[in-house]
Amino acid sequence: MSIITLRPLTQELLLQVGRWREEIRESLRTVPLRTQQEQFEFYLHPPEDSRWWALSLSTLAPPVGMGGLTGIQWENGLAEISLILDPVVWGKGYGKAAVHAILGEAFHRMRLHQVVGECYGCSPALPFWQALVREWNGGFVMLPQRKYWAGQWFPSFSFWFWQEDYPPLQPGEEVSTPVEEEPHE
Ligand SMILES: CC(C)(COP(=O)(O)OP(=O)(O)OC[C@H]1O[C@@H](n2cnc3c(N)ncnc32)[C@H](O)[C@@H]1OP(=O)(O)O)[C@@H](O)C(=O)NCCC(=O)NCCS
Repeated sequence: MSIITLRPLTQELLLQVGRWREEIRESLRTVPLRTQQEQFEFYLHPPEDSRWWALSLSTLAPPVGMGGLTGIQWENGLAEISLILDPVVWGKGYGKAAVHAILGEAFHRMRLHQVVGECYGCSPALPFWQALVREWNGGFVMLPQRKYWAGQWFPSFSFWFWQEDYPPLQPGEEVSTPVEEEPHE
């Protein structure tokens, strides 16, 4: 169980996200910042191959962030994770709980096979993703020259989580092996 609940997006959250994005430009794939109008358009018409959620501590509390699965490829059971939290709540474990909630949705509701992600070497979020990939049996490769920022090229930490390696095992918990059916005579 994650302490974070996935809720529908709100217009107000989208406007807040627009402001949070301005503080983490080195972590973004696209440099242009969105206007309020563009944020509103996104709220009305999110890309069809994506799902987005407000991240809340309870159904009543205001959201602490926004997360999503983008570029969903149903044939390949694959999607990319996206996550942004309100800077005032960083470092309280909400980011980790949000990823747990999104992966749970991806693997146990949407029947995806893998969730991938990319974090640039210049992003302060790098140790966060490295820690989760290590802890939850994910995999990664380093891709060279994936981000040009402040006059320099940076590599990216390109990672994945597979459904079969998730949810993470608790200490003492065992993987249950499916019982194979006896072949019929
Ligand atoms: C990245 C982000 C989602 C992390 O969320 P968070 O709530 O601050 O992170 P958490 O408190 O859940 O941290 C979870 C674990 O990550 C690791 N971690 C997080 N930040 C770390 C840091 N700066 N250095 C080392 N480890 C770190 C720790 O292992 C931590 O677990 P622990 O506290 O039990 O040791 C959040 O900071 C954010 O929204 N940043 C801006 C948006 C962004 O950069 N998104 C990602 C684009 S790639």
